[in-house]
Amino acid sequence: QELQLNLEEIEKGGYDHFMLKEIYEQPNAISDTYRGRMLPDQGIIKMAGVDDNIDRIANAKRILIVACGTSWHAGLVAEYIFEDLARIPVEVEYASEFRYRNPIITENDVIIAISQSGETADTMAAIKLAKEKGAFAFGVCNVVGSSISRETHAGAYTHAGPEIGVASTKAFTTQITVLTLMALKLAKHKGTISNSDFRYHLQELERIPGKVKESLESDNHIKVISDIYKDARNCLYLGRGYNFPVALEGALKLKEISYIHAEGYPAAEMKHGPIALIDEQMPVIVIATRKGHYEKVVSNIQEIKSRKGKIIAVVTEGDTEVRELADHVIEVPETIESLTPLLTTIPLQLLSYHIAVMLGKNVDQPRNLAKSVTVE
Ligand code: G6P
Repeated sequence: QELQLNLEEIEKGGYDHFMLKEIYEQPNAISDTYRGRMLPDQGIIKMAGVDDNIDRIANAKRILIVACGTSWHAGLVAEYIFEDLARIPVEVEYASEFRYRNPIITENDVIIAISQSGETADTMAAIKLAKEKGAFAFGVCNVVGSSISRETHAGAYTHAGPEIGVASTKAFTTQITVLTLMALKLAKHKGTISNSDFRYHLQELERIPGKVKESLESDNHIKVISDIYKDARNCLYLGRGYNFPVALEGALKLKEISYIHAEGYPAAEMKHGPIALIDEQMPVIVIATRKGHYEKVVSNIQEIKSRKGKIIAVVTEGDTEVRELADHVIEVPETIESLTPLLTTIPLQLLSYHIAVMLGKNVDQPRNLAKSVTVE
């Protein structure tokens, strides 16, 4: 048993938990994901699974994304990226709902399954169903040779390396990275992005690992914030546009490992319900980066403040407007809007991690949850 424990310590590489190690691995995991695939100087993205089927995918009447849990949130981010850059209509579905509702699928559809493990039963069943109806199936998996990667016609691995913590972290950011590359590639093929914009995206993506590193430097500051809010019973997470799915993911992370009830909401939808919950007991985590509906988010923050909610805002470096309103701000570096989720996710992962540790929860193996759900 002692040997077993020592082995685990070695695997954790000096970190207290796998989750923390995996959070810190993200700069490398993201660059491992795009390494060899993207040549910013030449303005090229190479992805064999996309290259070999480029017309089939680029001419899709619609892209359907199926996934569960955190992977479903990556799918929601991808919806914004694909529609924005490649102008292909996208629908994102919970695999478990999709498979049982007699969905309309045609041969002109492309279905993308996103799955860290590549073994999730519902996602697998959704892929099989779509294939039977003639759709082209593409897999975005982390585990090489996994069932979903074998069942799909083509795919792209995330190359995040093994993810042990049940709460998904680096799998999420690398899924977004792969899907961004894919969307950019399709956009270039379809001519929906200019050459200069395409290159600019690649150059900016190449700067993301360094910016993730910078975002991780807020760790101690986030620890202090975690200590203040660790006893909250409820938390609200708000974001808009590309950062709406990040709000959902932030809330999921907190629920999963700290067992605090948390909800993610599109910031503008707050007034249709969640605003009723806001009082001085309620921490509200708002993603308010400068690019993307900034002024509108600022007015959402004012609404929270006037109801005495506690505001923790994730802002762009150097922000002053939100700083005046919020109780706490956490800065992330500036980047183009479509890439902000890769940065804004980081502080939310750290916040839930520290709160769970302070509450004495089993961070890597939370109660009732499994890393991979291979049965219904
Ligand atoms: C479980 C895990 C989550 C994961 C989800 C989907 O619920 O606890 O972390 O996001 O399954 O898993 P997949 O392997 O398909 O991405």
